[in-house]
Amino acid sequence: MDLGIKGKVALVAAASKGLGKATALALAHEGADVCIVARGQQALDAAAEEIRAATGCKVLAVAGDVGVAAQLEALVRRVNESLGGVDILVNNAGGPRPGVFTDMSDEDWLGAIELNLMSAVRLTRLVLPHMRERGWGRVINITSVAVKQPIPNLILSNAARSAVVAMAKTLSMQVAAEGITVNNVCPGYTLTDRVRGLAESNSASEGISIDEVMARWETSIPARRLGKPEEVAALITFLASQQAGYITGTTIQIDGGTTQSLL
Ligand SMILES: NC(=O)c1ccc[n+]([C@@H]2O[C@H](COP(=O)([O-])OP(=O)(O)OC[C@H]3O[C@@H](n4cnc5c(N)ncnc54)[C@H](OP(=O)(O)O)[C@@H]3O)[C@@H](O)[C@H]2O)c1
Repeated sequence: MDLGIKGKVALVAAASKGLGKATALALAHEGADVCIVARGQQALDAAAEEIRAATGCKVLAVAGDVGVAAQLEALVRRVNESLGGVDILVNNAGGPRPGVFTDMSDEDWLGAIELNLMSAVRLTRLVLPHMRERGWGRVINITSVAVKQPIPNLILSNAARSAVVAMAKTLSMQVAAEGITVNNVCPGYTLTDRVRGLAESNSASEGISIDEVMARWETSIPARRLGKPEEVAALITFLASQQAGYITGTTIQIDGGTTQSLL
């Protein structure tokens, strides 16, 4: 199926590894030119080279922290100058620190809001004028299954990501008639470096092997396996397509059936 995004410009935040990188690669395979962002220059450059070699598309790599407001305007200006205005925005970032309510200070709360909510608000605000001018745009936020079923030890993630969903739903209604869609994707356990690191730390703290940690996760998932980054990327790429023009304001989990909720 031709997804109709050849020549579109995509900005994928937090994309030197994991879900972001898989998404940038999938969009480039569909012929989009992509800008990828992450803090670490080395991994970012390596990812950009890998995507260029695999797809032949233009790939701009800009080092930056999406949680720092002052960097975002310059980032979007660079994309505009190098590739053109952003047609497809994929909001993504690292996760806030784990813990329960009584662990968190004001600083922790505000940090999570800056990283996970305000990065999406600010990047969306910066690219929206171009999308409105063109009468076409796609905004896709990577959140987590936690927005459907909160995870007990991740209060900051649960709260900040739920705010992203509320923001996206409200914005989607405002801009739907202008050809712009806004959707949220909610991954469950997906095998990235982040999840490998979590398996390692659980293994060390519980005195069991990494394989045992993974096996326990797999048992808790109806599909009996973890997700693959390419599967999350495929969903995002479809939401970015021409064909998905009537899908907006949705929050779609991709979790092998884990979420126990009707909605
Ligand atoms: N994998 C899962 O199972 C899963 C499930 C639900 C939700 N999520 C969420 O999805 C997001 C991506 O997870 P992942 O598994 O793909 O993680 P990952 O494999 O660790 O990759 C994270 C990417 O984000 C970049 N990054 C992190 N913080 C950043 C910042 N402040 N500014 C710019 N780039 C930043 C990292 O590069 P630098 O470190 O160099 O900046 C890296 O490229 C996270 O918010 C995570 O909580 C993941």
